[in-house]
Amino acid sequence: MFTKRQNALLNETRKETPLGEVMRRYWIPALMSEEIPEPDCPPVRVPILGEELVAFRDTDGRIGVVAEHCSHRGTSLFYGRNENCGLRCGYHGWKMDELINTYVRLGTICSIVIGLFYWRGCLFARKQIQLAGASTPEQSE
Ligand code: FES
Repeated sequence: MFTKRQNALLNETRKETPLGEVMRRYWIPALMSEEIPEPDCPPVRVPILGEELVAFRDTDGRIGVVAEHCSHRGTSLFYGRNENCGLRCGYHGWKMDELINTYVRLGTICSIVIGLFYWRGCLFARKQIQLAGASTPEQSE
């Protein structure tokens, strides 16, 4: 039987846990592209490894994944407005886009926070950790 500490070591995937740090180095299926079917559609919650994230498709069709809570005062961006190429917080109106590096283009990793990879209708997400030799799902087939 595992001790409480051993069980936590083997199962907990929160930030700064050993398993959580390992899991964040791999591509994880986050959502199907039809969950955000059209430009400026409502954002959807994407909980991954205990982190609260929100995905949206902007006016130009680019997909972004950002932390759910606004970096200003923590309001949920799930209730934000998806408009004019960004997700606007409903409280004070800050807009989340590529200017603050919380935004990624579909199929092109350019985010410091969350990378996305599109494959067969599924969006894979990964915390952006630059590792030499890290592979995408397509490359690992
Ligand atoms: S809480 Fe989001 S802009 Fe202030």
